[in-house]
Amino acid sequence: MPDIALFAQVLDPANRADPYRLYAHLRETPILRDEDGTYIVSTYAEIRSLLQDSRVSSEDIPVFKRARTGNPILDFIINPIKDRIIEAHRPLLFRDPPDHGVLRRLIMTQFTTERVRATSGRVHAIVEDLIGKMRGREEVDLVGDFAYPLPVAIICELLGIPPGDEQKFQSWSATLAGVLDPDHWVREEHRLKSIENYDAITHYLSAIIKAKRKRPADDVLSGLATYKDKKLGRMGKYDLIATSVLLLIAGHETTVNLITNGMLTLLRNREWLERLRQDPTLAPRIVDELLRFDPPVHFRTRKTLAEIPIAGTVIPKGAPLILLFASGNRDPKRFQDPDRFDPERPDNLHFGFGGGPHYCIGAPLARLEVETALTALAKRLVDPRLVVDPPPYRPGASLRGPARLPLRVAAIAA
Ligand code: HEM
Repeated sequence: MPDIALFAQVLDPANRADPYRLYAHLRETPILRDEDGTYIVSTYAEIRSLLQDSRVSSEDIPVFKRARTGNPILDFIINPIKDRIIEAHRPLLFRDPPDHGVLRRLIMTQFTTERVRATSGRVHAIVEDLIGKMRGREEVDLVGDFAYPLPVAIICELLGIPPGDEQKFQSWSATLAGVLDPDHWVREEHRLKSIENYDAITHYLSAIIKAKRKRPADDVLSGLATYKDKKLGRMGKYDLIATSVLLLIAGHETTVNLITNGMLTLLRNREWLERLRQDPTLAPRIVDELLRFDPPVHFRTRKTLAEIPIAGTVIPKGAPLILLFASGNRDPKRFQDPDRFDPERPDNLHFGFGGGPHYCIGAPLARLEVETALTALAKRLVDPRLVVDPPPYRPGASLRGPARLPLRVAAIAA
């Protein structure tokens, strides 16, 4: 008899440090119906198949609904209109065809490989600068001192966000990252806080976009605000705002976890830290294996648009789905000795960046940042040691990573 409380245990912060043993239990029933009718998909083949299935929708986040204020103009006219606009213009992560494809193609005209490659010099410079600032200290927090400021600085530069504004949206971004957890919407105060933060971040970005339309610069937001495709036309105002919010948050909340999970894994597997120090060409393989072994995105939600027979069960139409990427990545039917960190493993086709039509747009940027970061940390931190193991984790179960990663170092090399 499958244990239906297993996924509740995955969401429980008490299990954040090690959800992998729960995933192993979940995989005993590849498609598990939870008490509330959600279907948890935990095995590699089934996740892969559903990611590519056109009967599976990404338009699954609950409708925004503001709290009543007592002011009838706000409650019955203005706020319902605002909510409807947000609903109709969700970011592409929560959109299906044909809108999803149109938005994605427009974004890709600006978020180009050349633009990402051109940031390489800045990534190196920021990495060296952040490590340089640690000199003279015996203990550092890898999250606050390094893993957070690096991707934030890079995504802000790429998008064209004024330097120095990062502080403004750190807390908006952290709250909004929580919307990916299914239990987030259940609590009224979380829902209202998300709406409040979404309003704040969209207000902030609308002003920036307006300025960029008038005086475009060489950055992604200027490009998106002014580009007109011959067939697809221009990206509309509200879609542009939603896209900017998504890029900013995606650029904030994921890469930080890959750097931190990466360093944590390397410190638990010191042989690989030493090998990376001696041979930086190993970085791409190490980062790829980290994306399988301890990925920043543990699961994503979906909804079925039709009945789907799969793995001996039938998922009904309209059912919420949880695709447990991090469990699929440890499925022994797909990966040999899956609980072993092994950058030499062949055919490492993991779900670290998802799969199917919503595959991560930021993957090349994230790889560039994390490969550069881990290579420099391996080279310059002399005899780094974990102060606590496991470290304290942030609350999110879907976007999962340490809140702090205190390290003791003998020195920081020049
Ligand atoms: C290590 C860092 C990152 C990881 C692990 C990661 C992971 C993912 C995953 C798993 C998805 C698929 C979600 C789904 O199927 O529902 C995704 C989508 C996406 N990611 Fe990333 N991401 C990272 C960094 C970034 C960065 C730096 C950006 C952009 C600046 C970005 C932008 C996006 C966007 C726009 C999507 C939605 C694509 C779509 O819906 O078509 N990501 N990411």
